Amino acid sequence: MMRIDIISAVPDLLTSPLQTSIIKRAQDKGKIYIQVHNLREYAFNKHKQIDDKPFGGGPGMVLKPEPFFECIEKLQKEREYDHIIFTTPKGKVFNQKEANRLSLAKNILVVAGHYKEIDDRVREKFATDEISIGNYVLTGGELPALVIIDALVRLIPGVLNDSEAALLDSFQDGDTIEAPNYTRPADFRGMKVPEVLLSGNEKEIKKWKEEQSKFLTEKWKKLNN
Ligand code: ADE
Repeated sequence: MMRIDIISAVPDLLTSPLQTSIIKRAQDKGKIYIQVHNLREYAFNKHKQIDDKPFGGGPGMVLKPEPFFECIEKLQKEREYDHIIFTTPKGKVFNQKEANRLSLAKNILVVAGHYKEIDDRVREKFATDEISIGNYVLTGGELPALVIIDALVRLIPGVLNDSEAALLDSFQDGDTIEAPNYTRPADFRGMKVPEVLLSGNEKEIKKWKEEQSKFLTEKWKKLNN
């Protein structure tokens, strides 16, 4: 079973998404074990202080190194981690290939910074992977952590009901976009489902899906380059 530990100063941000829908079901089915660790519980002084002013000046606060070291070293005594992921806009931009790679791991630790930054000695000491979910800045690493975990969990065999669903997805087969999907009614307010999908002709349907996929992939490439 894959195990994911997450360290966060704002664990509440993670609670509901991890206890809902497919990620919840994956845990209930014993496909994955996810444990959230509240950074504040590893604060070393009685004020439970986890941040401080940056050396050299500048705005904002920096998350102190000690609570991270305490927490990560405790977890490392319990097991070996294949990846210690730091979510940061400075990292490698996440994609399906990265998700596939990480989904093969047994133990993953995700360290999510919040507001300003984490004291860089934490990253230097522990990070094996620094991952950004895109070239924009969020208030913290919790949503990126959830994005990464969601992308991983659905790749674990037995998590999705229809195990084919993951393989046929957009991006799973290189940078390829899948054909549009429709369900009943075939005519909704005059908007009709493409005739070929109602034909029952499997060969024609396959051809249509391939054409659509090719067209949408070209369109996507123009949008993104
Ligand atoms: N933290 C803040 N912004 C981020 C981003 N784009 N990706 C990962 N972590 C982040």
